[in-house]
Amino acid sequence: MTADRARRRKVMFANWKLNGCAESIETWIKTMAPLAEEGVLDIVLMPPALWMERARTGLERYPSRLALGAQNVAAWEQGAYTGEISARMMADAGACYALVGHSERRLLFGETDEMVSRKMACCWTAGLSPVLCIGETGFERETGETERVLKRQLGAVEGWVRPPPGKALWIAYEPVWSIGTGQAAGPDLVAAVLAGIHSHWAGLNATIHSQPRLLYGGSVSLANAASLIALEAVDGLLVGGASVNPESCADLCRAMIRALD
Ligand code: PGA
Repeated sequence: MTADRARRRKVMFANWKLNGCAESIETWIKTMAPLAEEGVLDIVLMPPALWMERARTGLERYPSRLALGAQNVAAWEQGAYTGEISARMMADAGACYALVGHSERRLLFGETDEMVSRKMACCWTAGLSPVLCIGETGFERETGETERVLKRQLGAVEGWVRPPPGKALWIAYEPVWSIGTGQAAGPDLVAAVLAGIHSHWAGLNATIHSQPRLLYGGSVSLANAASLIALEAVDGLLVGGASVNPESCADLCRAMIRALD
């Protein structure tokens, strides 16, 4: 591995969504922990909230570069918000990252750009690194709206990007048409969109010092993981369905590690 490579470890985020079972957490961690130790790949497990503590206990047993992330956090720090879990509570339970603005939250749970911005602010306060998900629907892509949609989603959070020292904003390009459909975006499209996000960000308000770290997500599988993770513009992949089973997730990670070595 070159020194240059050593500086640029990439990351696989495993978003279990509403899947998995409590008993499988330890097997998953035991299987994945050695892979996170190898050369070039960090791994972040995003389990259902209820199992965060259990995952943290598992990590104590198999210490590695594996970290934890939350799939969602409340848009408020505290108060009368029945059923919500705050960013601080997630941090206390062991999370280092949190997804904000995942399209399933936006489309199925009515999350607005304003709520996404508030969630981001709560993440900074709690010491979590937010992973902002943005992406266009199939209809928006077909009607040439992709760029406008992505700029709107980025513009909405612009004023809320205040990473404390040591924390970064992560932005995941997750086209809605690719999530859970088996139809991943091709490497050329991913490279072009991430380059667009990069230059949009470079032109923003001078108070936003750090460049975000960029991810791709949407039907990542054994068939496409290597070509996507190898892209220069990609800092990591956000994997849903293919991340739940420990053995197939390990195969996916091995393919990524081979592509990066
Ligand atoms: P998928 O989900 O890999 O199952 O398409 C990705 C995501 O929603 O983060």
